[in-house]
Amino acid sequence: MQQRLLQHLSLFHFLVLAVDPSVPETAMPGPGGAGPGPRLGAVAAAAAALLALLVPAAGSSAAAGCEVPPSHRFDCGAERLLAREGCEARGCCYAPAASGAGGGPPWCFFPRGYRSYRAENLTATARGYAARLRRVAPSFLPGDVGVLRLDVALETESRLRFTLRDPARQRYEVPLATPRVSARAASTLYGVQVHEDPFGLVVSRRPGGQVLLNTTVAPLFFADQFLQISTSLPSRFISGLGEHLAPLVLDTAWTKVTLWNRDMAPVPQVNLYGSHPFYLVIEDGGSAHGVFLLNSNAMDVVLQPSPALTWRTTGGILDFYVFLGPDPKSVVRQYLDVVGFPFMPPYWGLGFHLCRWGYSSTTTTRQAVANMSAARFPLDVQWNDLDYMDAKRDFTFNKETFKDYPDMVRDFHQRGLRYVMIVDPGISSSGPPGTYKPYDDGLKRGVFIRNATGQPLIGKVWPGPTAFPDFTNPETHEWWHDMVKDFHDQVPFDGMWIDMNEPSNFVEGSQDGCPNNSLEKPPYVPGVFGGRLQAGTICASSQQYLSSHYNLHSLYGLTEAIASHDALVRIRGKRPFVISRSTFSGHGRYAGHWTGDVESNWEQLSYSVPEVLLFNLLGVPLVGADICGFLGDTSEELCVRWTQLGAFYPFMRNHNDHGNRPQEPYAFSPAAQDAMRKALRLRYSLLPYLYTLFHRAHTAGETVARPLFLEFPKDPNTWTVDRQLLWGGGLLVTPVLEAGQTKVSGYFPAGTWYSLVGVGAAAGLPGAATPFLRPDSTIHSKGQWVLLPAPLDTINVHVRAGHVLPLQEPAFSTAESRKKGMALVVALTPDGFARGELFWDDGESWQSFEKGDYTETLFLAAHVSVGGGCLGTALQPPAVTILGVTSPPRQVLANGARVDDFSYCSDTQVLSVPVSLPMWEQFVITWS
Ligand SMILES: *[C@@H]1O[C@H](CO)[C@@H](O)[C@H](O)[C@H]1NC(C)=O
Ligand SMILES: *[C@@H]1O[C@H](CO)[C@@H](O)[C@H](O)[C@H]1NC(C)=O
Ligand SMILES: *[C@@H]1O[C@H](CO)[C@@H](O)[C@H](O)[C@H]1NC(C)=O
Ligand SMILES: *[C@@H]1O[C@H](CO)[C@@H](O)[C@H](O)[C@H]1NC(C)=O
Ligand SMILES: *[C@@H]1O[C@H](CO)[C@@H](O)[C@H](O)[C@H]1NC(C)=O
Repeated sequence: MQQRLLQHLSLFHFLVLAVDPSVPETAMPGPGGAGPGPRLGAVAAAAAALLALLVPAAGSSAAAGCEVPPSHRFDCGAERLLAREGCEARGCCYAPAASGAGGGPPWCFFPRGYRSYRAENLTATARGYAARLRRVAPSFLPGDVGVLRLDVALETESRLRFTLRDPARQRYEVPLATPRVSARAASTLYGVQVHEDPFGLVVSRRPGGQVLLNTTVAPLFFADQFLQISTSLPSRFISGLGEHLAPLVLDTAWTKVTLWNRDMAPVPQVNLYGSHPFYLVIEDGGSAHGVFLLNSNAMDVVLQPSPALTWRTTGGILDFYVFLGPDPKSVVRQYLDVVGFPFMPPYWGLGFHLCRWGYSSTTTTRQAVANMSAARFPLDVQWNDLDYMDAKRDFTFNKETFKDYPDMVRDFHQRGLRYVMIVDPGISSSGPPGTYKPYDDGLKRGVFIRNATGQPLIGKVWPGPTAFPDFTNPETHEWWHDMVKDFHDQVPFDGMWIDMNEPSNFVEGSQDGCPNNSLEKPPYVPGVFGGRLQAGTICASSQQYLSSHYNLHSLYGLTEAIASHDALVRIRGKRPFVISRSTFSGHGRYAGHWTGDVESNWEQLSYSVPEVLLFNLLGVPLVGADICGFLGDTSEELCVRWTQLGAFYPFMRNHNDHGNRPQEPYAFSPAAQDAMRKALRLRYSLLPYLYTLFHRAHTAGETVARPLFLEFPKDPNTWTVDRQLLWGGGLLVTPVLEAGQTKVSGYFPAGTWYSLVGVGAAAGLPGAATPFLRPDSTIHSKGQWVLLPAPLDTINVHVRAGHVLPLQEPAFSTAESRKKGMALVVALTPDGFARGELFWDDGESWQSFEKGDYTETLFLAAHVSVGGGCLGTALQPPAVTILGVTSPPRQVLANGARVDDFSYCSDTQVLSVPVSLPMWEQFVITWS
């Protein structure tokens, strides 16, 4: 009875919507709702009257199924403001919260058992199951899809995929090549149940039965521009859903996370440059699972404290992957199995990068390099921002201020430096025909995004009026390659910095505005900054090769990154280096990321740790924030602390805005410079280790910078730590992130942690490749917080017992450091075990691993063995430092020969063995 009544009322309200579809988006309430809707007209009033007539007992929560605790309520009025009448007309429950403050539970929510779709005809398929879903109650949304096809594919033991499609009509699907699976997995770590009516899917972990997903908690919606599905979560420890300025573990207290790429200086709670609809949840006990919604439309993801999560997207299909782990590292790898493992960066890309907007000429740019060198700072890559361009147009350079630009780049190469410059996607369209080849040629080849009349959509970016290349068109890739090559023929740059690729637009939509249609004004607009999809970008209804910009918008940066990556491989024949602002799932396969226009303040410094960790979970390990901050003046103390932390960003670049006080390392006091030099030299010492981590990321889907919970999932204290980071499994970094501090508190999971200060000359020691440790600060932790001394010249870095780290004597560039002596730090566990590895090749050949042109060395406790292919570059013999040797050795043998000049210190339990064994052959050091 109740059910039929609800259907009737929903149908009725559908008519209401059709008559009065125009509540302005700007009046959208927060999750709390806020009193009566502005435009509930006579029809709604009639609905209320009808309701009063038919449901005498419908006095808000008195209605059946409305006894839902606030934390378990799912919003029934997400797309418009609803007063009691409108809410109840949908068959929903109305319960205004006591306080009007936004961010609480919804006022209008679904009763238990609210029906939307029913599953029918469940059948077995080669890959799993299929079913038909039929809508059993008319919805209140335009363009509702009445019949859906559900496909559940048991793709691998640990990966489940399920999709919901319209069987009658091909809808837009994200053009990401994902693994093809033709048969179901023989055994799985998950069980799946389909609940028939109302339809829902339950995914549970096997063994154990922990419910990971339960979509029965709220109704499914699948309308043309509004798709919604909710699930319970097994715990509140949820991370992912980038890109946002937020703690690593998200707040489930009614948080709305919006995904829609946007040029926006990072602030909390707004959509930023990238979209990654993937989350990872740590369950009680430390198991973890992940969920990826392969959908690129503008969406909101709502987290609520029950805990539960709602995906609400504005197009495409529902295409879910569930990764069963069971540990968090495996979840990341399983996600990357779908979206792609990270690319292998060139070795030089891991050195120090220097940039600023305001190096206004080659003279100034050369000065920056000379000043770095005079102040004895390492530098691998010099950059230029817009300054080099002629009238801010891509693929040009200023023939006055940058007249010797090609020579400058060649001179940098002579010094062993590399060079990268900014490239924006917007192509200047305002010059007379025949004066600017990128536009003329692009026009001829049809590469630009089109507006409603089929002409290139014209927006406005740095050079003024611009057209936007459509990187979903294969011809655009050819054209982009040709433009990049023409420019590279003049200026032999080494990498590309692709900015403004959300894409950013200084006018809303286009110079001619945007049409008035349902793509520009969908029935539901997610919580995008600016309130409209076209705010800060181009018209949603503009046309690209593969689909509308409405569908493809958040893929703009990714598709440009692919085009740039491929162009660089073809042009340079070497490993490409591309850093992009805008990203989407799968980006790490082609490029890195910097976190955009961050301000020079302490808050942004501390947020950069979770951002770097998050992008590593998302498969974009080559990531860093602008060191010392980009917007506004930095301070000396902030810049020192930022350089210390930045030395442990996988991508390390100092970048400043024009007009600010200088922030190059040499611009500060001698004491500050010393502190920065120390941090930089520590990084350079550790580059062989860092490079090996990138190799592991590239070939095994691992992370480089890693949150503690990835290594210690069984220790719940680690789950929320996002002010420290690990490099791989073996090095823990505890930076100071606040002003005026000389101590810092860090969490040390159970085990032994050795304090590493530097290597050889970096630490002011004779013996260039000797690691320098601070044995008095070795930490034997039971799993505890430790207060560490952290004077301004110090960043705390600890080597974890059980690991062998390959190091190298630092130098002023990687071109030099790669020729220096190697060192091994062997940090023994109490039972005398340690392992590690080194990946080594020439540092820049394209696919050296795939072709076998590399050496891979495995280190095992006091026993070193070698594997891998042929060697690119000769390695110096290592000096071996062994930590945790509990009793003085009487004799040390290297490959059976006595070593006389070993040293041992019983205070510190450090054994140093200056061997001259070739690293590319098996060697064995023993002591007794
Ligand atoms: C679905 O099942 C019903 C009854 O169980 C049957 O009548 C109908 O033909 C089936 N539809 C399809 C498409 O298989
Ligand atoms: C899934 O959620 C529904 C609705 O809250 C609940 O009734 C059901 O028990 C849940 N199923 C499982 C297996 O937890
Ligand atoms: C380099 O150093 C000189 C001398 O201190 C200074 O005048 C100049 O502004 C510096 N140039 C840059 C680009 O920092
Ligand atoms: C499309 O862009 C062209 C410029 O390329 C402009 O002249 C025309 O008015 C635009 N059409 C619409 C519908 O905005
Ligand atoms: C946009 O189109 C809608 C529906 O066709 C119409 O009601 C509305 O008035 C139009 N808005 C403008 C600004 O033209």
